[in-house]
Amino acid sequence: MSRLRYLTAGESHGPLLTAILEGLPAGLSLDVAALDADLARRQHGYGRGGRMKLERDQVRFTGGLRGGETLGGPLAMSIANLDHGVWEKVMGPLEVDAQAAAKRRLSSPRPGHADLPGGLKYGRHDLRDILERASARETAMRVAAGAVCRQLLAAFGVEVRSGVLSVGPVASEEPREGWSFATLSSVDEASPFRAVDASLEPKMTQAVDAAAKAGDTLGGTILVAARGVPPGLGSHVSWDRKLDGAIGQAMLSIPSVKAVSIGSGVSNAFAPGSLAHDPIAWSEERGFHRTKNRAGGLEGGITNGEDVLVVLFQKPIATLREGLPSVDLDTKEPHRAQYERSDVTAVPACGVIAEAMLAFVLANALLEKTGGDSMDEVRRNLDGFLAAQRSF
Ligand SMILES: Cc1cc2nc3c(=O)[nH]c(=O)nc-3n(C[C@H](O)[C@H](O)[C@H](O)COP(=O)(O)O)c2cc1C
Repeated sequence: MSRLRYLTAGESHGPLLTAILEGLPAGLSLDVAALDADLARRQHGYGRGGRMKLERDQVRFTGGLRGGETLGGPLAMSIANLDHGVWEKVMGPLEVDAQAAAKRRLSSPRPGHADLPGGLKYGRHDLRDILERASARETAMRVAAGAVCRQLLAAFGVEVRSGVLSVGPVASEEPREGWSFATLSSVDEASPFRAVDASLEPKMTQAVDAAAKAGDTLGGTILVAARGVPPGLGSHVSWDRKLDGAIGQAMLSIPSVKAVSIGSGVSNAFAPGSLAHDPIAWSEERGFHRTKNRAGGLEGGITNGEDVLVVLFQKPIATLREGLPSVDLDTKEPHRAQYERSDVTAVPACGVIAEAMLAFVLANALLEKTGGDSMDEVRRNLDGFLAAQRSF
C-alpha cells in the first residue's frame, strides 16, 4: 500500500487546478517561494506556445498546513487558470453558452492525442471534453505535489535534478555509461533548453525555429537523476514493490513520454553481460558501493545507494499547424485534425515534470521504508536503518 498518494482535478481552461497530497509526516516546513519557482521552471523553455506567456502559476494552500508547516493531514493545493476569464462561457463548471461552446467544439480528432479514444470511451461528441483533461496543463499540479516531495527528500539529503539530452535530431555524443547526478551540475536553469551539453543549445534553437516555420513539432530525451538516495528503498519481493517499475509507471504517465530507460537500460540490451553490470566494492569510507553505475542505482527493484538515473523519451507534440490526416466526427469524411494553440516542443518542461514524478516516487518509497508520522520520527527510523547497514 502506498504511503503517499495524490489526486489532481481540473480542466485546462477551467477555473482552477486542484491537488490533494496525502500521507506527509507532520513538521515539514515548506518553502513556498521554492515551490512556485518549480512551477515557473515548468512554464519556461524554448518552443512553448502562447499559453505559457499568459499563466503565472502560484500555489494556494487550503488545507494541511499551519504557519508553513505540515500537520500530517491531506495537503490541499490549487492553482488558478488565469485565462479562464475568456473561456468562462465555454468551460463554466455549471453553465456554458451553447453558441460559444459550439465555436470551440473539437470534432476532428488529433492523431496522437486522447481526443478520439477518449471521446469513444466516454461518449462525448465534443472532443473538447477529453482534450481539456488530457492536456498537459494538469502537470502544473504534479509539479506542485512533486515540489513538496522534493522538499521532504531534501530534508533527508536527497536531491533531484534533470537536464535535456536531445531535442529532435540535435543530440549529444556523450556515452550514456558515464552519466551521473554530477552530469547535471552543468545544466543552466536559466537557459532556454536546460541542456546537459550547453554547446548544443544554438543548434537546438535552430531545430525548433525550423520546425516552427514548417508547422512541425519536435520531441527529445531527458536525463533525470537523484543523489543521496538511501540504499534499500523498494523491494524485490513482489512485482508492484519494485521501485524501477514504479519509476517507469510514473514517467510513462507524463503526457507524451513513450519510453523510459533506467540507467543504461537501453544500451545494455546491446552489450555483453561482462560490460553491462556494475562491480561491487567496499571501503571504510563508503561501505558497499559500485565502481560503475550502469544499473542507474537500482538492482532487483531496490536502490543500491548509487545515483538513481532515468532517461525519458518524449514524442513530438501531436498538434500540428496544418493538422494531420483525420476524419470529421459528424460526416465521417476525411478532414484535417483541428488546430489548438500549441507548443512546438516541450522537452525542457517535461524534465521539470519528470523531476516531480521522481521526487514523488522516491518520497513514497522513503516513507514506506521508514514509516513515521512526524519528521523527527522519519529521521530516527532512517538513521537506525542506515546504521544497521553500516554494521552489516
Ligand atoms: C510539458 C508538456 C507540454 C505539452 N504541450 C502540448 C501542446 O502544447 N500541444 C500538444 O498537442 N501536446 C502537448 N503535450 C503532449 C500531450 O499532452 C500528449 O501528447 C497528449 O495528451 C496525449 O498523451 P500521450 O502522448 O501520452 O499518449 C505536452 C506534454 C508536456 C509534457
